[in-house]
This record gives sequence, structure tokens and C-alpha cells, in this order.
Amino acid sequence: MNELKRTHTCGELSGSDSGKTIILNGWVFKNRNHGGIHFINLRDRYGVSQVVIDEDASDKLKELADKVKFEYCIAVKGKVRKRPDEMINPEMTTGEIEIKAEEIKILSECEVLPFMVDEKSNAKEDLRLKYRFLDLRSEKMKQNIKLRHDTALAVRQYLSSRDFYEIETPTFIKSTPEGARDFIVPSRLFPGKAFALPQSPQIYKQLLMVSGMDKYFQIARCYRDEDARGDRQPEFTQIDIEMSFVDREDILSLTEGMMANVFDKTLSVKLPENFRRLSYHEAMESYGSDKPDLRFDIRIEDFSETAETCGFSVFKDTVSNGGTVRYILAKGCAAYYSRKKITELEDSAKVFGAKGLAWMKIGETGLEGGISKFFKDQEKEILEKTGAEKNDLLLFVADTWKTTCNSLGAVRSKLGKDLNLIDESKFEFVWILDFPLFEWNEDENKWDPAHHMFSMPQSQYLETMDKEPGPVKGDLYDLVLNGYEIASGSIRVHDPEIQKRIFSIVGFSEKDAENKFGFMLNAFKYGAPPHGGIAPGLDRLVMLMAGESSIREVIAFPKNTAGVSPLDDSPSEIEQDQLDELGIIFKEEKKEEVSTVNRAENREEEVL
Ligand code: AMO
Ligand code: AMP
Repeated sequence: MNELKRTHTCGELSGSDSGKTIILNGWVFKNRNHGGIHFINLRDRYGVSQVVIDEDASDKLKELADKVKFEYCIAVKGKVRKRPDEMINPEMTTGEIEIKAEEIKILSECEVLPFMVDEKSNAKEDLRLKYRFLDLRSEKMKQNIKLRHDTALAVRQYLSSRDFYEIETPTFIKSTPEGARDFIVPSRLFPGKAFALPQSPQIYKQLLMVSGMDKYFQIARCYRDEDARGDRQPEFTQIDIEMSFVDREDILSLTEGMMANVFDKTLSVKLPENFRRLSYHEAMESYGSDKPDLRFDIRIEDFSETAETCGFSVFKDTVSNGGTVRYILAKGCAAYYSRKKITELEDSAKVFGAKGLAWMKIGETGLEGGISKFFKDQEKEILEKTGAEKNDLLLFVADTWKTTCNSLGAVRSKLGKDLNLIDESKFEFVWILDFPLFEWNEDENKWDPAHHMFSMPQSQYLETMDKEPGPVKGDLYDLVLNGYEIASGSIRVHDPEIQKRIFSIVGFSEKDAENKFGFMLNAFKYGAPPHGGIAPGLDRLVMLMAGESSIREVIAFPKNTAGVSPLDDSPSEIEQDQLDELGIIFKEEKKEEVSTVNRAENREEEVL
């Protein structure tokens, strides 16, 4: 029995508590000795309180105060008193008061710290992850975890109040191709067989619609075996949503309402009632990305018409070969962009396949530098068309439509950063609509689903889809926030015949489809309702709300950039017994076994 069990938390005492005898439990955040008076800042999840061991305290108390070090877990009994006026700290919630200690008990000592528990701590990330239990004590991480909780709660409240059921779906499922690689879970009871961990609950939520559940959501764990990145984790969380008898507008407006509710409840930020919308084509042409950051307003414009008749052969030839020339007008930064700096911009364009980044500046006498010598005759036309003025910079890429858009998109992003154009306090949502349903896979010479295989083609393409998959637009939508794809969804195919046609376009034979998705196709024969859904990524959403640039900052126990967990050293070796039980032989061991066999054979030869 802990006789020094807390009566209050470290974040709640104020002037009105003066005179009370209280007990606090918490961790030592600071411990200073000013001329014989000890000040201990005691911290728990709720805040920090200042404990004072006065000069007139007993020797025993002073000794204890000397003994407690950073992050010791202690209990303090004492009397709340108002601080002298000059000592009031308006930055602390409890800054009006301090606790005159009468008794201190060490509940738990703390070893020498690998880093200081403080939001300013700049420990290397792997060290933070190895000691995540300490890292999570920091104010910043506490706030991020709180924000994540508040967000999930606001989501649950919003959806529950709109008749959604939260339904769990299994995490051991049949391996179904959905874009990334599956993590698999070998079965002990059925050697040679395995479960897969779901890349998302996609198929199950659709089955729930066939079941008549009508409105489903789940804060669902998803597992994808892909390379880790700043905004990707091998296991992550989706706010997974599916609804029956709806069209695209129902899902977009539900999502807008949910986001508005979340931002209002957690950050007191008011979002617009409706978000901006761009078609995939517009987003690519104007911003060079299907997830444009609209916090700054640089646009990519067409130059093909002017290029067609110009004297710069790179441009002219590109257009006559069916390609496109587009440009960015960077206002007022001709002086800032030296040749060296332009080379940096060019490098960012080349990452996306551009062969170069042509440029011209507008100087005292008109077009200057770069490729301006080819455009002397068209100077007036260009200035008029682009609206370029003195000290502006024009940047061009000539290539296929996709390469031109993507590479100028990268240049646009770099301009945004270089020129500090991004207002970090803004939340700019935009819907990206009308995605192509299929994309051509150059490596395998086949069509792939652009999103997943269950999205509905827009009705005008139903007749021609099998012969001409390229132009088919799907009833697909992405929600983008500040340059990140934070949600993706679609109206689904509920007609087994259309579903079969889609499987066939993406190269799934009837047999493959039957084998992988037979259970779903079968369910669709039993009165499948029209339905659709969406899945915002909770990690990415909270990351952006918290102003972080990595989702690892909003996940309690994430994997590091290499996809491993420094905390428990997973993935780790598996005991031989466990492998034997599962009937698994790892390749290296196989090699080892082969060589053992070889050795045995050699021995036999020796014997013979
Ligand atoms: P999608 O694969 O686009 O769609 O995923 C939906 C959202 O989940 C988030 N996300 C991730 N977050 C962190 N780490 C990852 N590795 C990761 N992968 C995806 C993104 C993304 O927008 N079943 C469909 C949704 C649907 O059609 O309803 C799906 O999973 O924010
Ligand atoms: P060159 O005539 O090859 O010296 O190129 C002149 C300028 O045009 C250089 O700045 C190149 O980076 C640029 N450039 C070359 N190819 C392309 C292209 N396809 N699109 C845009 N700029 C290009």
C-alpha cells in the first residue's frame, strides 16, 4: 500500500488551493539548489508543479532532495502556497503556486539518461526509438499522442452520431493482391499454408455492405510490406469507411464534415464547408502532382503553342513529336537564382526524368540569359502570354506530358521551399477527382489498377473500357492536405460482370480471380447494394495537424526509417523449434543444410 498515493496531479493546482496539504506523484524534471533552497520540478502527464525544500527543512528531507536525480519517480507530500509575486510563472499552468515539501519518497530510481527528456532534446532518432518510453515523457510527444487520441475520439463521435457502426474485421486473412506486398503469417496447423495481414480492410468492408450493415467504420490497422518513408510505415492506421446506396457526393461531403468536426474539436480550426476540387488532369497540368501543395500559388502553364514555331529546336521537336512544353513563372526571383541555384532546380526536375530545365530571365532590356537568344523574335508574344515582368524567371521543360508535369511539379515544390512561399499555419485541403482507372506498367507491359481493382469506371467508359483501358476514368477520389495524400476512396463495382471485366483488363485470369477473390465475387451474387467508401490515413492526418514532417512523431511505437524497431530489435531471429513447428526453412539455413548434405556425400565418397 502506497501511503503517499497522489491526491492531485502535477497539472491542476492553482492559487485557490493555497493552504491545502496535498500529495503529488511524478518524475523529476528539474532539480536546482539555490543557496540551500531546493527547487524540484515534478512532472506527470498533466503538467509540472514546483516543489520547494526550504532552508528550514529537516536534514533528512534536504538529503533526499539532494539524492533525487533527473527522471526519478517520486512522491511528495507538502503544503500548497502562493509564490511571491515576482516568482509567478505565467508560462506554467501551476505557475501561481509551489508546494512546500514536508515528505519525499523515492518510488523508483532512474539510471543515467541516454538523452534529456525534453522537447528540445536533439537525440538521434534511433536512440529516441530505443528509449521510446522515455521519449514519450517529453511534452511534444505527449501533445502528439493526445492529439491522436482526440482525433480518433472526434472521428468516433462524428461517425457514431451519423448511424455508423464500428466493426472489427479480421487481421488474419487470405492473401489478396492490393498494390503492395503482403506480410504473411505461416500456419502451424496447416503446414505450407499462410494467412496474410490485411493491407486494408477493403474486401471485408465491401462484404459488410452486402450484409446490409449500411454504414461501417473502423479505426483499422493496416500492414504493407513496402519500403519505409517519412510518410509511410509498414503498419499504420486508417479511418476506414464504407457506405451503401451512396454516390460520390455523399462520401465527399461526409468526409468534409468529419474533417471539419475533427479540426474544430481538436485544434479549434474552422475548415471551409466544402473543399476545393481538381481533376487529376488539372492537378497534374497546373501543379505537376496528384497531391499538390496549395499553400502557395505557383502554377504551371502551357507553352506548346509558342514552342511549336520557335527557333529552339529542343522545344520545337518535342511538340512536333507529340510532346509538350510547359513553364513556371517565378515572380521577382531572377536575381536570387544564380546559375548554380538554377542547376539545383534542374536537378530536382531531372529526378522526374526531365532532360533539362531551360530558363530565361527578364532583365532591363527584356529576355536575358539561358535560352533567350532563341526567342528574340517572340519576345513581345512571350511577355504578353506569360505576364512576366522585370526580375522574373521563366523555367521550362519539354518532354512527354507526364514527365513535363511531374518534373515541373518538383521544380514548383523546390521554389516553394527556396522562396519561403509556404504558410506553415495553413491547412489547404483539395479533392483530386477523375483519376484514370488503369495505368500502364512499363516493366510488365500490362495494365495495372491505378487505385485498386474494386473501383467503378465512370459510366461513359463502360462500353469501350475493354478495348481502350487508357482513357477510362474511375469514380475515384483522393483527399490531399498540404501536399500529402491523406485519404483515398471510390465508388465500388457491385456488378460481378463488370468486376470480371476489370480483372481481365489487369491480367487476372478467371481462374486467378476465382482463386483470389472467389469469396467476394460469390457474395456479390447475393444482392450486393451499390456502395462506396474512403479511408483517411490517421497517421498522416495527425502528423499534419501536429505540424510534424514524419508520421513516426505521432505513433507511440513506430518502426524506424529502415523498417525495424530499435526498441525491441524486431524483426528478430526465430527459435529453431518455432520454425520446425511451422515447417519453415530459411534460405540461408537451406544453404547450410545443402552444404551439410554435400559434406555427408563427400564423407561417403571418402569412406568408399
Ligand atoms: P490507400 O491504399 O490509398 O487506400 O490508403 C488510404 C490512405 O492510407 C494512408 N496510407 C498510409 N499511411 C501510412 N503508411 C502507409 N504505408 C500508408 N499507406 C497508405 C494514406 C492513404 O491515403 N482500401 C483503400 C481505401 C478505399 O478505397 O476505401 C486503401 O487502402 O493516407
Ligand atoms: P542545350 O542546347 O542542350 O545546351 O540546352 C540548353 C538548355 O535547355 C539547358 O539549360 C538545358 O538544361 C535545357 N534543356 C535541354 N533539354 C531540355 C528539355 N527537354 N526541356 C527543358 N529544357 C531542356
